Amino acid sequence: MRYFVITGHKAATSGDFKLDDIAGGAGRLDILVRCVNSAFFLSHNLRKDVEAYLVCEGGNDAPKTVIFKGNELRYLNPDERSTSSLIRNALMKPITDAETKSSPGVYVSRMSFFDVLDKLSGRGDFVYLKEDGTDCREYGFPENPIFVLGDNSDLTEEEESALLSRNPGRISIGPLSLHADHCMIVVNNELDRREAEA
Ligand SMILES: C[S@@+](CC[C@H](N)C(=O)[O-])C[C@H]1O[C@@H](n2cnc3c(N)ncnc32)[C@H](O)[C@@H]1O
Repeated sequence: MRYFVITGHKAATSGDFKLDDIAGGAGRLDILVRCVNSAFFLSHNLRKDVEAYLVCEGGNDAPKTVIFKGNELRYLNPDERSTSSLIRNALMKPITDAETKSSPGVYVSRMSFFDVLDKLSGRGDFVYLKEDGTDCREYGFPENPIFVLGDNSDLTEEEESALLSRNPGRISIGPLSLHADHCMIVVNNELDRREAEA
């Protein structure tokens, strides 16, 4: 399994935003939406072996985490508007369980970034995507990587120290700082290549 944890430092936690305003009023939710697309889309198919954790830390109802699970996902389409709509529906859902189902493969929870790290501990090994890390081409990826990355800003000091306490791998995917969703495409591709060679 491949896991992605993305921090949406200002991302909306209530569903009262307009789908035309995801980059503004919804606190750069557009970044998380593109991350969902990068996590799952293949040409005419979806990756089933991926889970994406969108940690929404903005607004009065923070924190919330919207979870996409590839092996259950339905109704995910490549256009950003429909992905935004799946996230908005999840954020509008009353949270009654640890993970409340919003639509097939989409869940919403009260988890903070720190709770997500706790939850995923033991499922695999954490891998911190960071510009100053080891070149990913020299890196031996773990079997079940849990990639952690920032949105348009890096992890906060508190988030970073919680992650570092779990002894993550630390990898760079190239010499330039890229958008979060583009980093995800690169690591998915690196893993695809290694699986194809194995
Ligand atoms: C848009 S960047 C965040 C801001 C960026 N660090 C800057 O100074 O402009 C989003 C996230 O992608 C990841 N990232 C970006 N470029 C990377 C690279 N070359 N290698 C590894 N991770 C990278 C980091 O996790 C970063 O927090």
